[in-house]
Amino acid sequence: MTDKKPEAQGIARGLTNYGDEAFSKYLRRSFASSMGYSREMLDRPIVGIAQSGSGFNNCHRHFPEMIEAVKRGVIAAGALPLDFPTISLGEVFVSPTSLKFRNLMSMDVEEMVRAQPMDSVVLLGGCDKTVPAQLMGAMSANLPAVQLVAGPMSTGRHKEHRLGACTDCRRFWQQFRSGQIEEEEINVVERKLASTAGTCAVMGTASTMASLTEAMGMMPAYGAAIPAVSADRLRMAEETGRLAVQLIGSERRPRSILTQQALENAVTVLLALGGSTNAVLHLAAIAGRVGLKLDLKKLNEISDRTPVLVDLKPTGQFYMEDLHYAGGIPAVMRELRHLLHLDAVTVTGETIGDRIENADPWVDRNVIAAAEQPVRVNGGLVALYGNLAPKGAILKRSAADPALFETEARVVVFTSLEDLAARIDDPDLDVTADDILLLQNAGPTSAAAMPEAGYLPIPKKLARAGVKDMIRISDARMSGTAYGTIVLHVSPDAASGGPIGLVRSGDRIRLSVEKREIELLVSEAELEKRRALTPDTRHHGTRGYDKLYSKEILQAEDGCDFGFLLDDPCSHGTPGAA
Ligand code: FES
Ligand code: MG
Repeated sequence: MTDKKPEAQGIARGLTNYGDEAFSKYLRRSFASSMGYSREMLDRPIVGIAQSGSGFNNCHRHFPEMIEAVKRGVIAAGALPLDFPTISLGEVFVSPTSLKFRNLMSMDVEEMVRAQPMDSVVLLGGCDKTVPAQLMGAMSANLPAVQLVAGPMSTGRHKEHRLGACTDCRRFWQQFRSGQIEEEEINVVERKLASTAGTCAVMGTASTMASLTEAMGMMPAYGAAIPAVSADRLRMAEETGRLAVQLIGSERRPRSILTQQALENAVTVLLALGGSTNAVLHLAAIAGRVGLKLDLKKLNEISDRTPVLVDLKPTGQFYMEDLHYAGGIPAVMRELRHLLHLDAVTVTGETIGDRIENADPWVDRNVIAAAEQPVRVNGGLVALYGNLAPKGAILKRSAADPALFETEARVVVFTSLEDLAARIDDPDLDVTADDILLLQNAGPTSAAAMPEAGYLPIPKKLARAGVKDMIRISDARMSGTAYGTIVLHVSPDAASGGPIGLVRSGDRIRLSVEKREIELLVSEAELEKRRALTPDTRHHGTRGYDKLYSKEILQAEDGCDFGFLLDDPCSHGTPGAA
């Protein structure tokens, strides 16, 4: 990496090409003046604010106020702030699934950061895919950058229950499906689940990615967990604006911060948080932009030595706001200091070791456990391998039922999301509580584009009989706010010809979490026969972004990035190949 010290160039950076440099400068200054800025302001260095607010994104609804606070910090530190919109990905407003557009957003961020005249950039995101997309783009553009997040929603109340999106959404929905609560009550709960601005209130994907961004050093200490509606969130925005000015011309660029050590720190924190399975994909994708690989075998190694320390939903009892008031990510990292690379440098110039040293020593042990008395002795996630998942699969063991960890059982197969929807609640479905449910053709190369459908519903007749968990396997993802014994991201996926597409109802599968194995107990010869008879389900887009996506999408172990966006395509797999 070459990290030459560029001068701050402000409005003169990266001129529009008219074949006459002086004319280009003159024209740009003239048009910039039309925005009402004085010459004094236009002579300042420029901090871009890549902001992903949108009317289609509830989590970002307080961004106007946050942008004002960033601008305050930038102006106070002597630069000119200019915000610009990028694609926004409101998790529940994007079809078929927001993951499909994460790479598109990363391209938007990368190219606009590069194309517009700014000397550093504040990335303002929050909802699940927006922060990964911004970090991916920032890693590729490698202009000095600092991440600012929306912050988590505050909890609401329903009767005696504390409510936070969206683990409680699922709990109440399950109660409704199994007939424990009536339609009238679910309608009341619906209005109370997400009651403030900010990202989902539990350790879902948004909170996990915010926390990992802090752990990898791309935001100031405490930046991840301050509640969205708190005045401290605005002060963090102001501080971020000031920091972005300090970064101008500095060597602290995204690629010098995301080192192998920083990546391992992020993985360690992920495992200690019992964080979202989606974070494995996003970290792999962010790392891939700087030529690093998130090795799932390494993840298992780290998982074996890392305790789960926080007791947050979906696996525990608390919410993200509680994590902040309990001491935040610095307090979590202090408990992990023997497992972290303390000399990893962060965007503020402090090392992770400095941050731990400077952190408030007070900690609420109800929310953040001591390393000697953890919530769980080993990490929240494990990768599984076997003939069903030659390139790996992920299980969130901290959200799963240990009674199911060593299981051999019959499998009931659903060949697509449509098949699942059509048959899962059929009273005649041949299924028992001891079976494994398996969903095919919901991976990255399928038409479904890897939605969060891996949390297969318990068949209604079993749910009504009191069954709360079953082993569920798919090439899909699961929401970070969900829980259960659920094997996800099976790779290669069914639509690209992976073995998961060769499973038939009645086969037997053996899961061993202890051995990190997932085996389909069918002979190789039989699988070969089935392969010849299995239809090709790979999605082929015919035009536009859909076509680009279907040609370039990589498998889960490469973070589902596009092949042509990787730092070094030669050292990675062929796009989309099994
Ligand atoms: Fe935006 Fe959950 S919907 S973080
Ligand atoms: Mg989510």
